[in-house]
Amino acid sequence: MAQLWGGRFTGETAAAAYEFNASIGFDRRLFHQDIQGSIAHARMLAARGIIEPEERDVMIRALGEILEDVDRGRLSIDESCEDIHSFVEAELVNRIQDTGKKLHTGRSRNDQVALDMRLYTRERVLETEGQLAELLSVILGAMEENLETYMPGFTHLQKAQPVTLAHHYGAYFEMFRRDRLRLGDIYRRMNYCPLGAGALAGTTFPLDREYTASLLGFDGPAVNSMDAVSDRDYLIELLAALSTVMMHLSRFCEEIILWNSNEYQFVEIDDAYATGSSIMPQKKNPDIAELVRGKTGRVYGALVSLLTTMKGLPLAYNKDMQEDKEVAFDAMDTVGDCLALFTGMLRTMKFRKDRMAASARNGFANATDAADYLAAKGVPFRDAHAVVGRLVLYCIEKGTSIDELSLEELQGLSDKFEADIYEAVSLKACVEKRLTLGAPGPEAMKQALAGYRAYLAEGTLAERIAEGQEEADRER
Ligand code: ARG
Repeated sequence: MAQLWGGRFTGETAAAAYEFNASIGFDRRLFHQDIQGSIAHARMLAARGIIEPEERDVMIRALGEILEDVDRGRLSIDESCEDIHSFVEAELVNRIQDTGKKLHTGRSRNDQVALDMRLYTRERVLETEGQLAELLSVILGAMEENLETYMPGFTHLQKAQPVTLAHHYGAYFEMFRRDRLRLGDIYRRMNYCPLGAGALAGTTFPLDREYTASLLGFDGPAVNSMDAVSDRDYLIELLAALSTVMMHLSRFCEEIILWNSNEYQFVEIDDAYATGSSIMPQKKNPDIAELVRGKTGRVYGALVSLLTTMKGLPLAYNKDMQEDKEVAFDAMDTVGDCLALFTGMLRTMKFRKDRMAASARNGFANATDAADYLAAKGVPFRDAHAVVGRLVLYCIEKGTSIDELSLEELQGLSDKFEADIYEAVSLKACVEKRLTLGAPGPEAMKQALAGYRAYLAEGTLAERIAEGQEEADRER
């Protein structure tokens, strides 16, 4: 295969070296972006009088045809080319000869690949942001239906205090909302166009970088040409944000696996998202949740891999940077698949409300409330804590719970106990009395839900960009 750079060489590249160097096997994914960037570059070259308007038209038409031919399967990407940029250029020259050879004027593959990868990543950021919005709306739906679904809240995986399912899900709403906001921040920070940086030092042609940037929907050109070709911060930030998404998904999966176990039986995963065992007929395994938890490792791996690739690189472009793609693509694909599967699993999962409430009732999740009850009757909290501690010990020995003791038994430990204790330590009361902002009590939850609804009604980042709302917000 003819390379783009044969002139200076007298010898042939060793076949193994050519293979090792080539990236078309994975950067073929950037085909659309490569065409898109090339069209913008051709327009700008003509606008600056660097090529003739007729040459621009011929180039743009041919680039469009190459795009269509590949998309329709009439032309396949030739994997003997070094990379996707070489393929597009070779195909262009093949079709329009000398005119095609002018496209690379004032451009290097260094700024070209930086552009393609940014265009591609930008799309995937929007896609993931939209998937998170979808997940959030499923979580919100479940919250609205489970404001009075009582369950134990845990610390140290020991029953701690009663909460509601709505409240527990609300914690995940907050996590995934932050994940979404992070993607929005990354989008804004990365949305600068590297094209026109050339190999590293700009070019002698009078390019209009503002124009190409605006044609491609960027907020402006990247300011320093050496930085423009060698910045991969935006990918590192993205991989960190995606790692955090996975960490959140993984924690949620871990809980679902527990809740779905025979010991808990808080939920039942739908058959569509579970699998059986080849030997044990009774099994229904939470494989999807386990796989999402398991795939978290490879996304973390991508982050560490790229950080390590970048750490020793002198300015500006180095071939090491080609290593950004496979790991980043894999992480984006993995997170996309995990979000899709997880959201489906969550949407179809059934709650065993009876089991959750029974679990909250057994296990002294209301012990703090019994102590609060005594404290409200004038017993210093530290003493109340001790009384209820003895009460719990008494219950454990008797194999019963606080609300099942007789008033005489209760009064044997403190004469401040009265008949209203039973109501005070009921699940409903334990939850409803928790009225502080952020607590599971109904008032606090209503306030949170209203905020969440309004937040989701703002729409996705992609929708806001399409409506020009993003710019308006940023100018404010
Ligand atoms: N395949 C290369 C990459 O992904 C494209 C840039 C090549 N530039 C160069 N000077 N060899 O980084």
